[in-house]
Amino acid sequence: MPAALVTGAGRGLGLRISEALAARGLAVHLTDVEAKSAEAAAQAIGPPAFGSALDVRDPEACRAAAAATIERAGSLDVWVNNAGILVTGLVWEHDPETRRALFEVNTLGTINGTLAALEPMRAVGRGHVINIVSLAGLGAPPGEALYGATKHGAIAFSLGTLADLRRAGFREIHVSAVCPDGIWTPMIADKLDDPDAAPSFSGTLLRAEAVAPKVAELLDRPRPVLTIPRWRGVFVRLIDAFPALATRIVPLFMADARRRQRRWKRRIEAGEGP
Ligand SMILES: NC(=O)c1ccc[n+]([C@@H]2O[C@H](COP(=O)([O-])OP(=O)(O)OC[C@H]3O[C@@H](n4cnc5c(N)ncnc54)[C@H](O)[C@@H]3O)[C@@H](O)[C@H]2O)c1
Repeated sequence: MPAALVTGAGRGLGLRISEALAARGLAVHLTDVEAKSAEAAAQAIGPPAFGSALDVRDPEACRAAAAATIERAGSLDVWVNNAGILVTGLVWEHDPETRRALFEVNTLGTINGTLAALEPMRAVGRGHVINIVSLAGLGAPPGEALYGATKHGAIAFSLGTLADLRRAGFREIHVSAVCPDGIWTPMIADKLDDPDAAPSFSGTLLRAEAVAPKVAELLDRPRPVLTIPRWRGVFVRLIDAFPALATRIVPLFMADARRRQRRWKRRIEAGEGP
């Protein structure tokens, strides 16, 4: 039975991805900095899924988690770097600890997880690392600029690692970066009234249950970058290609995003969505 490790799997998208991978017959090692939530989530999925504590900021702990997966399940075929944190606001409003925390979890955490996974994967010459990035890794959302910076780092590392693997002759080790639009998870559940978080609500507000199967489908067809939905990826890349224009339309974009955010709030409070 193939095995997968998912980081930040105690709730939100990571939990749904774990369920989707388990449904495809993988033994899933659910990890989270919140040990109890990882263990409870693994218990809910049932054996052979299992849970443990993992703080992705710690490279040695990531290596130990990879080894623990192999010891318990026999192999490490898939590693999903999903753990992430979000803060919003004007860039000069964050304190240095907050800036460090975001880079340590979103960027370094992805790097730590990737390298921990690649060690055993390189030894057997196959495997798949899936990095949950964001559309904020392709464009710079106003109000979420710090988060966007960490996600740009993550996607650059993801694509660069894939290139390095091919350069080194590893054809059966894949790295996929997933860039979803806003997802209705605990990450943004308290941000319906936060004007700085409006970009998260500016397009399609996705359900984690809808995103997770698309992540699992990458096992059949790995992709360097998967944007969800695809049209939003095209939209964000187009905006990114014209930075002067994008800067000029920021007030218009934010006003529209705020309108959509209020609409989502009304719908969610009325129990209609997403
Ligand atoms: N929710 C969105 O709108 C959205 C959109 C695009 C991408 N994403 C990305 O999807 C991923 C999952 O986000 P989510 O929406 O499910 O968020 P979430 O806040 O619901 O879940 C994140 C999980 O990561 C865990 N975590 C936090 N710090 C950690 C650490 N140092 N080590 C290990 N685990 C840690 C948390 O305990 C939590 O269980 C993140 O990378 C996020 O950036 C989210």
